[in-house]
Amino acid sequence: MTRIIDGKKIAAEIRAEIADEVKALTKRKIVPGLAVVLVGNDPASEVYTRMKKKACADLGMASFDFDLPSSCTEKRLLNLIDKLNRDPKVDGILVQLPLPERINESKVLNAIDPDKDVDGFHPMNVGKMLIGDDAFLPCTPHGCQQLLMRSGYDPAGKHVVIVGRSNIVGKPLAAMLMRKAPGANATVTVCHSRTKKLASICKQADILIAAIGVPGFIKGRMVKEGAVVIDVGTNRVPDKTKKSGFRLVGDVDFKNVSKKARAITPVPGGVGPMTITMLMRNTVDSAKRRVKRKARR
Ligand code: GUN
Repeated sequence: MTRIIDGKKIAAEIRAEIADEVKALTKRKIVPGLAVVLVGNDPASEVYTRMKKKACADLGMASFDFDLPSSCTEKRLLNLIDKLNRDPKVDGILVQLPLPERINESKVLNAIDPDKDVDGFHPMNVGKMLIGDDAFLPCTPHGCQQLLMRSGYDPAGKHVVIVGRSNIVGKPLAAMLMRKAPGANATVTVCHSRTKKLASICKQADILIAAIGVPGFIKGRMVKEGAVVIDVGTNRVPDKTKKSGFRLVGDVDFKNVSKKARAITPVPGGVGPMTITMLMRNTVDSAKRRVKRKARR
């Protein structure tokens, strides 16, 4: 029987741990706070930021909302980040991506104080993670790692094949899983749109992670019998039977791949809930560092 890795359940377990920590901090008059910055009105980004604010509220954390119009200038956004960097109530700053094309994404991410970069996107945190120093870990890769570990699939010594090389998932996930650290020590191969013999490489994976952004890209024939499959895809495909007019599908052809996999994450209900949970994790860790700084003064 193929095991369905329940991301909602694992996320709830981690959120219960975080909630206890938030309670303890709040008793000491420290309320972890996350600034959620959205530019424009991309429908998916609106949904994600709403979910992030709700997660804060559910955990007793503070969220500070900044919904800027799509006409917002880069300067205005940079000014806001500067203000948030200096605000002692803000432990984490999240700028939802993608940004409108006019705005230079890397300039914006570079402007965030690395100590408040709870997305783990600042080059300082990316670099620190790569060399194995303490850093905010990017949320989706960290969520994938937690899903594996908490389901009993330690990647140590395993061949992990990642399909996709984005800065948000593929690249940082590869760096994270090859670290000399608990939950890592994997042999990692990264495939992408220019990879030759991609199917045969995928078929060698003990753990296959799909993060390419193409609905149903990973077919049954690309998966080894008994592999563990993590689907990071969240693609909206039109569906007239749904009130919203679309449904969410992953990068994995679930129906056929689940016949071969030992374990697989569903979409929705797999990686998605974990990403937001790890964002909360980072924000609370940042608040704990605020406590330490206060104690030193
Ligand atoms: N857009 C898609 N994924 C993410 C994420 O993890 N963080 C932010 N800020 N934007 C995203």
